[in-house]
Amino acid sequence: MKVLDIKKLEKRFDTIQVLEDIELHIERGEFISIVGPSGCGKSTLFKIITGLIREYRGEVRIEGAESRDYTQPISYMPQKDLLLPWRTLYENARIPLEVSKKPKGEHSGRILPLIEEFGLAGFENAYPHELSGGMRQRGALLRTFLIESDLMLLDEPFGALDAITRMEMQEWLLEVWQKHNHSILFITHDIDEALFLSDRVYVMTGRPGRIELEIEVEEERPRRREILLEERCMEYKREILKILRG
Ligand SMILES: Nc1ncnc2c1ncn2[C@@H]1O[C@H](COP(=O)(O)OP(=O)(O)OP(=O)(O)O)[C@@H](O)[C@H]1O
Ligand SMILES: [Mg+2]
Repeated sequence: MKVLDIKKLEKRFDTIQVLEDIELHIERGEFISIVGPSGCGKSTLFKIITGLIREYRGEVRIEGAESRDYTQPISYMPQKDLLLPWRTLYENARIPLEVSKKPKGEHSGRILPLIEEFGLAGFENAYPHELSGGMRQRGALLRTFLIESDLMLLDEPFGALDAITRMEMQEWLLEVWQKHNHSILFITHDIDEALFLSDRVYVMTGRPGRIELEIEVEEERPRRREILLEERCMEYKREILKILRG
């Protein structure tokens, strides 16, 4: 069964058609990216998958169930990191466990190993304003990982980071993905990032948002970043740019 299967999805806000004829799927364990211009409907698509937006036409199936009937939580990192400023890192991480009513005694056993794994050890009691941008984003990702769902939706998780931190985060995300075996749908504006991370890349155009191209990135893993400079990847980039430029 596909983790996510979207067919003929249409979404309008009043008179504006935002998404048109979207067909997209994720097989278990895949890392899939979506690239597309600002305003083409990527975040809207995530809100439909998570059930935040319930009015749409077409089919959106998660683990076989129509999204409106799917009652399990879905790991979702919204476009802004949204750590609560009045809670420490540890207290922020606890939110999903509180929401799913996990016994209090289990909290630290779940959270502390992840804090270690996400390179945040020693900052458990720091407030978001005391963390760097990269640490805040790792904290938000950590919280997303505590939601027990195979499917993870990440909306430009590294958007606010400088190039070097961003590369480190990409490599680290791949390690975490391979270890935890999630199925990831990842939104980015960065073509290199999409090609480096993904098994497949969906390329969208704007107004109304449509999927114009699907690229299968046939590069072995683990990948070296140098592949991005090789001819196969350059050809992918040319194809993607042609579409994004319209
Ligand atoms: N609740 C809403 N009501 C009306 N229009 C909306 C609503 N949410 C989004 N839109 C519109 O839908 C379009 C798509 O927005 P969305 O946030 O999905 O774009 P995006 O692809 O995520 O862009 P970006 O790359 O800038 O994050 C935009 O034109 C936006 O103004
Ligand atoms: Mg968006």
